[in-house]
Amino acid sequence: MTGFETLRLDGVTRRFAGADALTGLDLEIRRGEFIALLGPSGCGKSTALNCLAGLLPLSAGSIWRDGTRLDTLPAERRGFGMVFQNYALFPHLSVQKNVSFGLRMRGVPRAELRRRTQAAIRLVHLEEHATKLPGQLSGGQQQRVAIARAVVIEPSLVLMDEPLSNLDAKLRLEMRTEIRKLHQDLGLTTVYVTHDQEEALSMADRLVVLRSGRVQQIGTPEEVHTRPANRHVADFLGFRNLLPGFFEKDTINIKGLGVRTAGSPVRTIRDGAPAVAAIRPEDITLGGGVEVTVEVAEYHGREIAAEARTADGLTLHLRTPQRLAPGDKVAVTFPPEKLLIFPADDLPSEEAA
Ligand SMILES: Nc1ncnc2c1ncn2[C@@H]1O[C@H](COP(=O)(O)OP(=O)(O)OP(=O)(O)O)[C@@H](O)[C@H]1O
Ligand SMILES: [Mg+2]
Repeated sequence: MTGFETLRLDGVTRRFAGADALTGLDLEIRRGEFIALLGPSGCGKSTALNCLAGLLPLSAGSIWRDGTRLDTLPAERRGFGMVFQNYALFPHLSVQKNVSFGLRMRGVPRAELRRRTQAAIRLVHLEEHATKLPGQLSGGQQQRVAIARAVVIEPSLVLMDEPLSNLDAKLRLEMRTEIRKLHQDLGLTTVYVTHDQEEALSMADRLVVLRSGRVQQIGTPEEVHTRPANRHVADFLGFRNLLPGFFEKDTINIKGLGVRTAGSPVRTIRDGAPAVAAIRPEDITLGGGVEVTVEVAEYHGREIAAEARTADGLTLHLRTPQRLAPGDKVAVTFPPEKLLIFPADDLPSEEAA
């Protein structure tokens, strides 16, 4: 294993057939960190991971492990462990043989190989299944084999590409905790790809939010959750209400709302400039303020998710423990600290119009 203090990506760019899949990714990964790459389908997450792993050559930029250039080394010389989205287990090899594969490739002596393989299998609680073939295991068990196979080589970095996407909801939650625990117990450095904001927020020390191959924001879960850098990040992080209007002195005149609304501008906006108010459904409070009519109400256990409309035809998404039903008339208020105001600059032109 080659340890490191920092791993630095410097303007990492990857083009396919003339089009950028990833543009100028700058990122410093510190030893022991859990980094999540988050963004919608096609934003360049797997491309970034594969560039880091050495499975894709860079079109521009460089990768450094401390002072040493890394992107010119082949994948097998980087000493990274990889967990692929589809697990990529060898179907004809037992769990044991799958897990010990990387050690055999590295010529690790038999006794040590056996000891480390057993330890890795114990770590992911598969002792009883060690002699089975992957086809005889459930999805979650296969996923744990893939993790054991990645960590058994004691990699300096573990790369995981949406490892939980094939699992059912309950198992996904359990495995989240398991992966986070493994990361802590083994003192791993992890880069984890997901399009699930909850997964990223709950697991990572820092998030890298991507869109169309470009970094939108790098920050702690709290920073990204409470202070998204732009309306695209806000949109991706659950601000379902993105309401266009015009800015004036820390308030916004939202189209179709009928009253000026106080909010928190995320950066300086010129008075009179087009702007977008962003607020999460659960942050709109019932009572006071503006009257709306409920049009759709969905049951979500403790809460109701509702779509409601103002007299002027503005649609709002609400989320509340109150038992709303279609046809109900309720009043809503926007807490100013929860209502972020973004300049409209970064909106596509048809939306800004
Ligand atoms: N081998 C390839 N040849 C051509 N284009 C590619 C190739 N791999 C990826 N791309 C393109 O690069 C862009 C980024 O793809 P990438 O696989 O990194 O996205 P992603 O964020 O991992 O998406 P998903 O969440 O769907 O897995 C996409 O537009 C994709 O079509
Ligand atoms: Mg992908």
